[in-house]
Amino acid sequence: MTQDELKQAVARAAIDYVPQGIIGVGTGSTANFFIDELAKVKGRFDGAVASSEATAQRLKSHGIAVYELNNVGELEIYVDGADEITKHLHMVKGGGGALTREKIVAACAKKFICLADASKLVDVMGKFPLPVEVIPMARSYVARELVKLGGQPRLREGFTTDNGNVILDVLGLTIMNPVELETKLNQIVGVVTNGLFALRPADVLLLGTADGVKTMKAGD
Ligand code: 5RP
Repeated sequence: MTQDELKQAVARAAIDYVPQGIIGVGTGSTANFFIDELAKVKGRFDGAVASSEATAQRLKSHGIAVYELNNVGELEIYVDGADEITKHLHMVKGGGGALTREKIVAACAKKFICLADASKLVDVMGKFPLPVEVIPMARSYVARELVKLGGQPRLREGFTTDNGNVILDVLGLTIMNPVELETKLNQIVGVVTNGLFALRPADVLLLGTADGVKTMKAGD
């Protein structure tokens, strides 16, 4: 199976988790497959909160109602992909640059369902450069602080987030303690969000493998 076929398989499997009401929807190619599957079951739920402008547009293009997060209460589920995920369901996210809104929508959801193809499951995170969203005027300062932590930050050229900020992609980190690093990075003045999702990990991982979709839960 190709990587896209695996992503499509997990997207299809995630439909079983869709409740009535409003759901949170992530960003990226895997989330896009999920949105396309959602379009087939539009009558089963009321609409979605989007984690990016791109996701909002895709949802709307399918005729799915998009709600502002501030106008809805707690969400039953948030469904999104990841760049790396461990068996503890800690993740690196933000390859698509939507990490801040993803983290906000995820924080409002009772259950985070991560969709990933088998290539995303790792023992230790850090091979995928860790995205850090930064207020533009703090770019150089934050980069220097990231170097002190052992990272090699690279500005994502020509990219501005939906929030008007820049992204530093940090290479060279071997993330042995994701909760500690997520907390530490959040302390750097000028950092809006970092792409570690460990303080609020996923609750369920639907992993696309050659043998079918495997369901993993934190603590399995
Ligand atoms: C976007 C993200 C995505 O979930 C992550 O990059 C995975 O993307 P894809 O599903 O295209 O592999 O965090 O900001």
